Amino acid sequence: MCINIAEDILPFINKNTYSEVIKMEKLDLLYVGKAKKVFSTEDPALCIFEYKDDATAFNGLKKGSFDGKGIINNQMANFIFRLLEKEGIKTHLVEELSPRETLVKKVDIIPLEVIVRNIAAGSFSKRYGVEEGTPFVSPTLEFSYKNDELGDPLINDYQAIALGVVTREDIDTISDIAFKVNEGLKKIFMNIGIKLVDFKIELGRTADGEIVLADEISPDTCRLWDAETNKKLDKDRFRLDLGEFGDVYREVWGRLTEYYGR
Ligand SMILES: Nc1ncnc2c1ncn2[C@@H]1O[C@H](COP(=O)(O)OP(=O)(O)O)[C@@H](O)[C@H]1O
Ligand SMILES: [Mg+2]
Repeated sequence: MCINIAEDILPFINKNTYSEVIKMEKLDLLYVGKAKKVFSTEDPALCIFEYKDDATAFNGLKKGSFDGKGIINNQMANFIFRLLEKEGIKTHLVEELSPRETLVKKVDIIPLEVIVRNIAAGSFSKRYGVEEGTPFVSPTLEFSYKNDELGDPLINDYQAIALGVVTREDIDTISDIAFKVNEGLKKIFMNIGIKLVDFKIELGRTADGEIVLADEISPDTCRLWDAETNKKLDKDRFRLDLGEFGDVYREVWGRLTEYYGR
């Protein structure tokens, strides 16, 4: 039997109509990333994300994709950002323009990946010899220096300050936001029967110097385990060749929309 891909994706396309008021056009292609393309707009303070279906792992060495990934991640990231905004967290989000495209405030990305962990997994388990699945007494916070050529090496706050990337005050602000996001996300996912193992966020400075949550939050950037079975519902399915890669993204998105409505 022939499966129609468009039909397969259809349930995940936002049923709401998109704003007729905001009609921003994509101008120059500013950046082609691993998961998104970034375009300029007529307003220098705004840019447009176009999510791709691509997946990469191990610093781009492993490549894959599934049809509709960009559509799910775009909508899921925006959905989660809106929920976090209700918790008082400021984000770059302006408006979802289409199933794949979103208007965001253009920020100067702080070149740190900010990682919060609640349960040991991945590189933490390996580096410190802690069995995967071991819950922490309190959440951990770590930074890696955003640099593809160097493979995003770990960096501590003193090193980041020494490099002039951030000030001590910025580190305090970033840490505060990261732990707030953790509390918000834990709640969001707990409500849909999912454990938040860990996640990575990126932050940036808006034109008026405020540090806000940027980039995306999706199963590409979080480790999510089913609360009952511990089944992995995130990009680890691709990293570790566990199969059902697209299925688990659709599962998480389905649970979110079912619980919270659209
Ligand atoms: N609001 C924003 N303004 C400008 N750049 C952003 C914003 N949010 C995220 N970015 C950057 O845009 C790029 C998004 O594309 P992505 O495919 O995720 O790239 P990468 O391959 O570097 O992970 C990233 O480099 C990210 O740091
Ligand atoms: Mg990225």
